[in-house]
Amino acid sequence: MKQTLSSDDNLDAILDLLGCDIIGGAFTHLNRLGAGGTATVFAHPTRMDLVVRVSDYPDGWFQYAHDLASDDGGPHYGPQVHEMTCVNDVWVALATRLQELPFDIETYARLGAARRIICPDHYGEATPGDIEMIEGDQPGFCDFADRHLAGARDLTDENFMTDGVRLIVNDPFRGMSLFDAERLAQIHSSPLKSAA
Ligand SMILES: Nc1ncnc2c1ncn2[C@@H]1O[C@H](COP(=O)(O)OP(=O)(O)O)[C@@H](O)[C@H]1O
Ligand SMILES: [Mg+2]
Repeated sequence: MKQTLSSDDNLDAILDLLGCDIIGGAFTHLNRLGAGGTATVFAHPTRMDLVVRVSDYPDGWFQYAHDLASDDGGPHYGPQVHEMTCVNDVWVALATRLQELPFDIETYARLGAARRIICPDHYGEATPGDIEMIEGDQPGFCDFADRHLAGARDLTDENFMTDGVRLIVNDPFRGMSLFDAERLAQIHSSPLKSAA
């Protein structure tokens, strides 16, 4: 799953570029693509196909993306992370760049169906028509939701994106527990070279 990047565009090179104040450095050196409640997402400086995600919050995206990267079974409708790290409580990742979904009636209907499949407790049971609509061109989506989206509650429009073909459930978990954040930070911690 982890893609090999040339030494010029990998996460170490990005951290060097951003400096000790990672969030400030990102705003100074990178172009911001978007932001939500917990993270800011920037265009990678040299790779059109990648983004740099930065957060000083225990952003649930990192746990979700980490878990997906470790799972090689079945179709995948989540984000693809290439590298991640946590330095001094700031989370940084390189991930595949995605596109916004169009604002149209069809997308509105699809997102409604996807929400009912992911979280029937909140949105109501998915109908056979919902399942047919989604599985028709996103085969295995229901299975993906069963395996990875239990407890996902952050299902507003901007948390869904597309890679051009797939409906990507990009950011469905708001936060990580402190326990999970500490555990994940230990797995991915790497000292900032310039601060060492
Ligand atoms: N992989 C990506 N490619 C391009 N833009 C992205 C990507 N991930 C997020 N964004 C942009 O950043 C915004 C916020 O992303 P999101 O993952 O929802 O973060 P937050 O945790 O802050 O809610 C999205 O609405 C989108 O505009
Ligand atoms: Mg979000």
